[in-house]
Amino acid sequence: MKTPFSFFLITDTHYFENSLGAEGPEYDRFNLTEQKCLAETGSIIDSAFDTLCADKEVQTVLIPGDLIFDGEKESHLGFIKKLEKLTACGKRIYVTTAGHDYNDNPRAFKGEERIPVEGTSREELLTLYKDYGYSDCLAFNERTYSYAASIADGVRLLALNCDGDGKHFHGFDEEHLKWIKEQIDSAKAAGDIFFAMTHYPVLPGSPVMSMVGDAVISNWRETAETLADWGLQLVFTGHMHMQSVNSITTAKGNTLWDVCTGSLVGCPASIRKVTFSDEKKVKIESSRIEEFDWDKNGMTADEYFTWRFERMIRTTIDSMAENPEAFARKIAKKGSKSKNLGLIKFAGNTMQTLTLGKLGRLLFIKVPSDLKGVLVKDLGVELVRNMFEGDAPYIPGTPVHSLIMKALKRFRPVISTLEKKLGEKNPELSDIPAFVSSLIGNSGVPDNNLELTLN
Ligand SMILES: [Fe+2]
Ligand SMILES: [Fe+2]
Repeated sequence: MKTPFSFFLITDTHYFENSLGAEGPEYDRFNLTEQKCLAETGSIIDSAFDTLCADKEVQTVLIPGDLIFDGEKESHLGFIKKLEKLTACGKRIYVTTAGHDYNDNPRAFKGEERIPVEGTSREELLTLYKDYGYSDCLAFNERTYSYAASIADGVRLLALNCDGDGKHFHGFDEEHLKWIKEQIDSAKAAGDIFFAMTHYPVLPGSPVMSMVGDAVISNWRETAETLADWGLQLVFTGHMHMQSVNSITTAKGNTLWDVCTGSLVGCPASIRKVTFSDEKKVKIESSRIEEFDWDKNGMTADEYFTWRFERMIRTTIDSMAENPEAFARKIAKKGSKSKNLGLIKFAGNTMQTLTLGKLGRLLFIKVPSDLKGVLVKDLGVELVRNMFEGDAPYIPGTPVHSLIMKALKRFRPVISTLEKKLGEKNPELSDIPAFVSSLIGNSGVPDNNLELTLN
């Protein structure tokens, strides 16, 4: 490998062709619970591609899926025009496709309703994106659409498609794993460094993500350990629209790192630059979209993304009180029953007016004066945003962490019962304070800027 070797990674670009229809009351309703800035995607992607083009040193760009909004043929054609511009400025682009890239029945927004538009079959994606990895690869798996490509001298990319059966299974079945093992062995035999990209995270981005539906590949633990023991050390993922870096180490002592990147078109609107300074040192730097051409009501790009993200969470919290069934359906694993509706409604209602000061008085906890006026709801919104932006700040020793831990202590008897009841199914919940602590403050390596050492 010629070092340093660098590439850019962006993901979940979710491009939407606005001429299909992206305005009106139905679009406004859709936006209330949406992280992605949909009508803005063209502008945001143009801005990102300008940034990538300006860096003349880096020639490689990886995009692991959800290239467009939801399968509209016109969105693919528009997105490919943008990729062509990126190619024209000297970049080689490698994509994998994902669930939102094919759909028989996509819809655009018109007035009060959603109108059908031309869709894209999964097969068509290979032709559409033939110039972006598939046509000049070293190996292509026809059944799964995974491929292996030599992306620089001595550097091999395993672009793994994790669509699975397109329904409940997202990941790699036995036959697929056998093919992946062959690619790993072939890269090793050639003496290449190799890493993978796939759409779904291979490791949960946070402990809570192993409990909610659709947040990680199927059979994640078994698959991650198998891949690590075969020698895969690094995988780049997307899908969750969040920044996180996690690892797993197997009983044999092999470590696999999962670098999950947030969506380009919603908070945190992230661009990763990855540099192998040698075969073992991998530097990961993250930046954000700084500006894009849109009427943002006087806000900066960052303020606009934050406003959009927080509105999504606020609307969701409001729906806990107003429509607990819909809220429970949204977070439940596919096929499981919605439970605890009364508790969801109570929590949703309480969060609307309760301040931290009032909560402290109720629980006999001293609350720092600068936190007294903060609404529990606002803190909740911030905690969720922090989780998606990565490097969540409320680690042990910070006032917010202490306050939350003290509050949990007051509910010790209830929490002990919950730990016993819930911990059987989800081991993470057998220690609820530790679980909450892991949600509000980052542990392990940083999520945005870091250097990994491989074996
Ligand atoms: Fe996505
Ligand atoms: Fe996705």
